[in-house]
Amino acid sequence: MADHASIPVLFSTPEIAAKVKEMAEAIRKAMGTEFMVIALLKGGFVFSADLVRALHHAGCSPQIDFLTLSSYGEGTESTGTVALAKDITDSVQGKKVLLVDDILESGRTLAYAKELLLKHDASSVSIAVLLEKPGKRKVNFHADFVGFTVPDKFVVGYGLDFANHYRELPFIGYLEKH
Ligand code: IMP
Ligand code: MG
Repeated sequence: MADHASIPVLFSTPEIAAKVKEMAEAIRKAMGTEFMVIALLKGGFVFSADLVRALHHAGCSPQIDFLTLSSYGEGTESTGTVALAKDITDSVQGKKVLLVDDILESGRTLAYAKELLLKHDASSVSIAVLLEKPGKRKVNFHADFVGFTVPDKFVVGYGLDFANHYRELPFIGYLEKH
């Protein structure tokens, strides 16, 4: 693994914090104060942990559950197939859901997750992603709340991994070779 000191920074810790706060305020305006957050694991764990606290400061009282999907193997190219690793454990029936993930790329992961939550009878499913890579969509998919648009690079940190490394970095950077 490359030393993290050699990873160029795209978004610093304070830039991310300001964006998360802004997103929480937009979510409160659009969704009100009562809804259920479903955090996608593993990649969405850092963003969702900061987002729910920002939602609290924005006046929201979300319930929280987790959904684990996998689409990437150990490399940087999507396998194109999404698998359910662990379903939610709480009921979303009749609830407004905010589905939270780190990044929207092909759209396959979030499309799969949204469909699953609608099958579990959520009354609506809105999407919040910290990052979006434009021009990479393989399915027609729209996110309701987007933090930053990123260039076509393999990004790591703040929950995003390469082969399950770098998730702990407090900033978002990119790997030079990709
Ligand atoms: P999608 O299904 O192609 O939209 O990809 C979504 C999933 O792939 C995300 O939840 C991430 O876990 C992972 N992913 C996509 N692009 C990147 C990247 O640049 N770095 C790290 N993970 C990524
Ligand atoms: Mg990942």
